[in-house]
Parts: sequence; structure tokens; C-alpha cells
Amino acid sequence: MTEKKSFYITTPIYYPSGKLHIGNATTTIACDVLARYKRLMGYDTFYLTGLDEHGQKIQTKAEEAGMTPQAYVDGMAVGVKELWKKLDISYDKFIRTTDDYHESVVADVFEKLLAQGDIYLGEYSGWYSVSDEEFFTESQLTEVFRDENGEVIGGIAPSGHQVELVSEESYFFKLSKYQKHLEAFFKAYPDFISPSSRMNEMIKNFIEPGLEDLAVSRTTFTWGVPIKSNPKHVVYVWIDALLNYATALGYGQGDTTKFEKFWTGQTEVKSWTDESGKVWDFKIASSVNHMVAKDILRFHSIYWPIILMALDLPLPNRLIAHGWFVMQDGKMSKSKGNVVYPEMLVERFGLDPLRYYLMRSLPVGSDGTFTPEDYVGRINYELANDLGNLLNRTVAMINKYFDGQVPNLSTGSTEFDEDLQAVAGQAIADYHKYMDLVDYPRALDAVWSLIARTNKYIDETAPWVLAKDEAQKDNLASVMAHLAESLRVVANLIAPFMMTTANAITEQLGLGAIASIENLTFGQFPEGVRVVAKGTPIFPRLDMDEEIAYIKEQMAAGKSAAEKEWAPEEVELTLNKPEIKFEEFEKTEIRVAEVIDCQKVEGSDKLLLFRLDAGDAEHRQILSGIANFYPNPEELIGLKVQIVANLKPRKMMKKYVSQGMILSAEHDANLTLLTVDSSVPNGSVIG
Ligand code: MSP
Repeated sequence: MTEKKSFYITTPIYYPSGKLHIGNATTTIACDVLARYKRLMGYDTFYLTGLDEHGQKIQTKAEEAGMTPQAYVDGMAVGVKELWKKLDISYDKFIRTTDDYHESVVADVFEKLLAQGDIYLGEYSGWYSVSDEEFFTESQLTEVFRDENGEVIGGIAPSGHQVELVSEESYFFKLSKYQKHLEAFFKAYPDFISPSSRMNEMIKNFIEPGLEDLAVSRTTFTWGVPIKSNPKHVVYVWIDALLNYATALGYGQGDTTKFEKFWTGQTEVKSWTDESGKVWDFKIASSVNHMVAKDILRFHSIYWPIILMALDLPLPNRLIAHGWFVMQDGKMSKSKGNVVYPEMLVERFGLDPLRYYLMRSLPVGSDGTFTPEDYVGRINYELANDLGNLLNRTVAMINKYFDGQVPNLSTGSTEFDEDLQAVAGQAIADYHKYMDLVDYPRALDAVWSLIARTNKYIDETAPWVLAKDEAQKDNLASVMAHLAESLRVVANLIAPFMMTTANAITEQLGLGAIASIENLTFGQFPEGVRVVAKGTPIFPRLDMDEEIAYIKEQMAAGKSAAEKEWAPEEVELTLNKPEIKFEEFEKTEIRVAEVIDCQKVEGSDKLLLFRLDAGDAEHRQILSGIANFYPNPEELIGLKVQIVANLKPRKMMKKYVSQGMILSAEHDANLTLLTVDSSVPNGSVIG
């Protein structure tokens, strides 16, 4: 017996920092479909998913919940496993990065890289986004905040999250040492990332500008894998997390059978010769496939191959990167009331419609939009109408005309048979082609092209007309056989996506459960089979308006639930500037000042020159750029305003010294000075 080919597929390990939504479910279902497809194609398949449980983000979440991080992640892991059960996810292993075996290998790997000189101790000073658990250089920030001297004091990461300044002793991974290797690897194996446009993105954004060494340890919190030789450091959560793909198979542990079977056992070499004639050879583990979305591609396409190179392990076969599901009003967020949770959709509509919808609309290259209209529409038109009706009509006609006995394909013929067979053949071929490319929308399009052709075949052959003519009995038999066979093919093709539906179809056709689709062709319907006496509809028709309204209500209920459960400590505040400590604020002296005089500054459209009584020994002078909003400055005389009194005086327009700042509020395109009741004495301190 020849040994089966191995296939290893992994999801990202998700952060258990909140309830998982349809975005996370998308990747997990997409991997499940691939795992089921490969099993049906005869591969020995191993499907891994799990949780990324260490890091600052989780530690903070646990603290907020008043729990230890371990108790917190233990609770979250239960919920995630329940969700995967509801979605019928056929994973072979669920890894948690707090599992002992994983932690111990991570600690060992770190020491190994340290010992071989790939990691060195240094000082890190730069920007860190806790939400992304990611370091950024200043140039990568989409926005920077500066103090009055122009110094950068904060900023915003590309994900929209705030960054904080991290200044600490840190170990660094010498990514720069592997720059050439990575470039050569991408050249030797241009199919590594799919779709390939994403590889160009990585080359342009990260490789061409030059790889910077990566900080790979943290000292300011403790929730992570401690570094053996220097336990005040914990391993950077991404190094810890990426290694899960290897530790889950037993890498670095006693029993490495699985690691050999699914990683090192099936390799091929890809080569590239550079300009100098040097040949670069890369060992590829042809069974290893990772699926991620675009947000974490950089970690998987740059850091992960480099870690593997440093460990002298074969590189993954493929990195499948899909886009995001977004909502019509942008990214999913609780406060916008546009988050969709998979549980709600499964409870209302069943599991198969959810799996079908997410995969048929899977954003392959770019992002895709989830809409309730589209969701209900696809169930009604594509599942209930196109597929459900085809099955109902077929089973009903075979019962009516042949007493439930499925006739043989070769009994008779019609002029439409050949085309139906050709379309089926093409659908099967296209389906396999697109399944290999993990382009599920196109693979399902192929299946639906056969469904559409089969529905058309009923209209063309008009069995109800043939049934009236005894001489056409054999041809009617052939039509029934073609319909049953088409449906059998369809059931086999949709099996990785919708197991329940696929098996319901084969059951109604009188066939056994689907065990393999390896040699599927049109024309294999077994002889002597009876369909069920009366088929039940596999997808009930939905009232569009009612169901769309239901989904919208549920999304809004999520929002009001989020509002009702108002937990101030969990609210993410919307800030325009980085957070400051009380001691920092305390340094600012704000005082009440009366406007003694106010005039336009000659030579400036914007500036007003104020003379103020702010309780100092003498009046002070402040220039303020608000002339546009106060065209009659003399009207301000006598008002009591608020000023920052201890701002370092500065020269303006070469000759005027400005001794502070007058506070005002900006709103829409307008501006209003902040005034104080006239009873408050000049110089009173505000704070
Ligand atoms: N813990 C890291 C991954 C470590 S892997 C070694 C992480 N976790 S995460 O919880 O933030 O999950 C990110 C992944 O969730 C994305 O890469 C994608 O697979 C999935 N998705 C999250 N939101 C999504 C959408 N809106 N749409 C599609 N996929 C989405 O990053």
C-alpha cells in the first residue's frame, strides 16, 4: 500500500481577549473546508487551531476582569471551543500557548537562538501598540502627536490603535542577517504567498526598505514565557505564538512522529541563482499550509520563515492570505452596533447557510462586505430556490413517474444530455482547480453553474410532457437519471462546505454518506437505488423583509447590550492626544484673566493682541490666532477668560512677546473663547 500524502492546515491562533465574531469564524470555517476537502481527496490531514493566550493585552484584560490571566484564558477557551463545536469545525488539535509542552519548547528555542548568536541583548526604545501586540517605527505610524517643541510624544498605528512609548532592555532577533535569505526565498518560491499580489506588498513595504532587527522580549509585564537565562524577560508574544505551528505537532518534544509526518517528512527543494551565480536552495515542507488574513501577513511571511531558517527547518508550502469581512459602515465594532456573531445566525438560519454564505463571499483578494440583505438573499435564491427546489422536484418526479426507483442513465436519451454532462465535467474540473487555489467563491460558482444547468435541463426536457406519452417512457427515465446524477455530483462537491446538506441530498436520493470525492465524475450513479418516499425541503424559504429586519435588530441589540452593560473601566476612550499622568497635567497652570484691551495685530489676518489682568503684579500680553472668529475685538474687553499661565513666553511677529495661551473650544468650523462668570476674581487658579 502506498502511503497517503500528508496535508497540514492551520488557522491563526486567536487572542481570547473578547468574544469571537464572524471575522474569526471565517478563517476557521475556511480552514475547515480545506481540511474536509483534502480528507475527501484522500489526504492524511491534520487541522490545527487554538488560542494565543500570552501577552500584555491578555494580562490587561484579565486585570480588568479582576481575574488571574490563567483563570481568564481558561474561561475564554471554553467559550471558543463551544463556538467551534457549533460551527462543526473538524480540528484535530486545539493548542493553547499556555500548554506546558508549548511553553517549554518556546523557552528552549529562545535559548538555542541566543546560543547561536541570532538573538542578542540590547535596549529598545520605540512605539508599541498593545492592541496589535506590535512594534512600530515612527515612519510606520499613520499619525504622530508632538509636544510644543516638536518632539513626538505618541501616535496611531495603521490599525487605528494608539501606540505607547516603550523604553526597556530587550533581546533582539537579527532579522537583518536573514534579509538576503528571505529575498532569495521569495525569488525561489514566488508561489509561497497566495494571492501573489500580497507577496509584492510584503516585498515593497518591508523587505525593500530593509529588515530591522526585531525586539523579541519584554520586561514591563510578566504574562508570557520567561526567558530561562534571564527570567525578568518574557518572550515577545508573536515569537511565542508563531512557534505553535511546530510545537502542536510535537517539535522539540519526545514524540516527533507527527512532526515528521506533517512537516519534515514531505519536502521538496526550490532554488534560485542570484546575480553572482550563487545558488540558493530552500527546503519546502510541501504538506504545511497556513491560512491568515491580511492583518497578520507580515508576521507569517517575514518573521516565521526567518525563525524556521534559523532553526534549520523546512519552510511552509503555502501562506494563504484572505481579505477581511467589513460592514457597510466600515470595520466591525461593538459601539457602532454592526458586529455579527455567528451564534445568532446559526440559531436563526442553521449552520449550513452560514458556512455557505461566508465561503461563497470569502474575500479572497480584497475585502468583502457583509450585509443582512445579501445574507438572506443568498439563502433564498441560491440555497432554497436553485438547490432546494431542484432536489424537491427531482425526488417528487422520480416518486411520481417511477415509483421512487431511480432509472439507469443509459435507458433513453434527450438532445440535452450531452450538454448537461459537459457542464458537469467542466464544473468538477473548475471546482478542483479553484479549491486548490482556495478560491471558494469561484469553486462554488462552478457548482452553481451545474445547478443552474440542471434546472434549465428540467425546463428543456419538460418531463411532465414526456410523461404523457408512453413512447417517451425511456427518455423520461433517462431525464430522471440525469437529474439524480447531477444532484449526486453537486452533493459531493458541496460536502466540504455543507456536510449536513450534502448528506441530506444523498440520503433523499437513497445513497450512503459521502466518503470520497477523489474520483468523482458524472455517470457513476449506482443501480437499483430508491429515493425517499417524500423529500423534506432542505432549505425553507424565508420572508426577506422579516429576516433582514431580524438580523439588523440583533446587530443593534448587540449595541444596546454593549451600552447597557456599561463598564466604565472597559470603555476605550477616544482621545486626540496620548494619555498623560496626573502629575503631568498638574504642571499646567490655568488661571482666570480679564480682558483689559484687545486689538487686531497689524500685518496679520489671524492674530489678536490681548492685554490681560491675570492676577500678576502687572498686566500680561497674549497673542491669539482667533481674529477670524472675533471680527470686533473691542467687544471682548471686560470678558473673563481662561489662560494657560505658565507656558514659556515666546516672540511672535518678531516684536510681540506672548505670555501664555487663551483657552477656547473648537466645534464644527467655529471657535468660542472659554469665559468665566464675572464674579470670579482675576488670577483664580483653575484645576
Ligand atoms: N493572535 C494573533 C495571531 C497569531 S497566529 C500565530 C491574532 N489574533 S486575532 O484574534 O486578532 O485574529 C486575527 C485573525 O482573525 C485574522 O488574521 C483573520 O484570520 C481573522 N479575522 C479577524 N477579523 C476578521 C474579519 N473582519 N474578516 C476576516 N477575517 C478576520 O492576530
